[in-house]
Amino acid sequence: MTLSPYLAPGFYDKALAAGKHRDIVGGRWEETAEAQMACLLAEGLRPQHQLLDIGCGSLRLGHMAVPFLDPGHYWGTDASGALMRRGYEVELADKARLPADQLVEDADFAFPGLPETIDFAIAWGVFTHLPPGALPPALASVRARFPALKALLLTLFLAPEGPPGPFRQRDGVVTHPNRPPWHRHRAEVQAEAQAAGFTLAWRDLILPRGQCLAVLSPA
Ligand SMILES: C[S@@+](CC[C@H](N)C(=O)[O-])C[C@H]1O[C@@H](n2cnc3c(N)ncnc32)[C@H](O)[C@@H]1O
Repeated sequence: MTLSPYLAPGFYDKALAAGKHRDIVGGRWEETAEAQMACLLAEGLRPQHQLLDIGCGSLRLGHMAVPFLDPGHYWGTDASGALMRRGYEVELADKARLPADQLVEDADFAFPGLPETIDFAIAWGVFTHLPPGALPPALASVRARFPALKALLLTLFLAPEGPPGPFRQRDGVVTHPNRPPWHRHRAEVQAEAQAAGFTLAWRDLILPRGQCLAVLSPA
């Protein structure tokens, strides 16, 4: 069974060779970047904050967040360095606003070399593609690494409690308890956030593909 589509052998190489750096993060490029920016602004993001985009892919959010933030205030991590570099080359108009070494390859949520001064973080469409067991250690890592953090925005697919099975989200996407795209139960995620030292609030928003937004703040 595939635990994550991103783990398929040659996945990034094939997609990048075919010029599909937008498609492999889910497409719907401007719409999704605007939705991400709207969520961050609603949670209080301002240009002087330092934003970490966890699983940033080809800079779908980055292409809007980098011009908004003060120069050097955006950091991105992703399992694929090549995907981030393609986004940097193709999607970022003013490269002077983002030193290339602020895009850090990291598949373990260890955040190597990132500054402790990061105060906003977002993981959009990342844990929707990873098995549930990936979330608790990643949350613990974020909590431990970034003492100045004000908010972590996290998108997930949710499904009602009940017999496990596929669930059709508002946007038509069918999610699963045992394969990607994965869905979770509200209470489980709430408990995992609490165990990692966060308070979690769900936002009542309609996001692309029917994802739900959780905002985690240090407890
Ligand atoms: C659906 S895309 C979303 C990308 C970006 N957040 C956005 O909204 O445009 C999921 C991203 O998660 C990344 N990813 C998958 N597994 C990861 C891991 N273990 N650690 C970090 N990033 C990962 C993928 O490379 C991909 O860029």
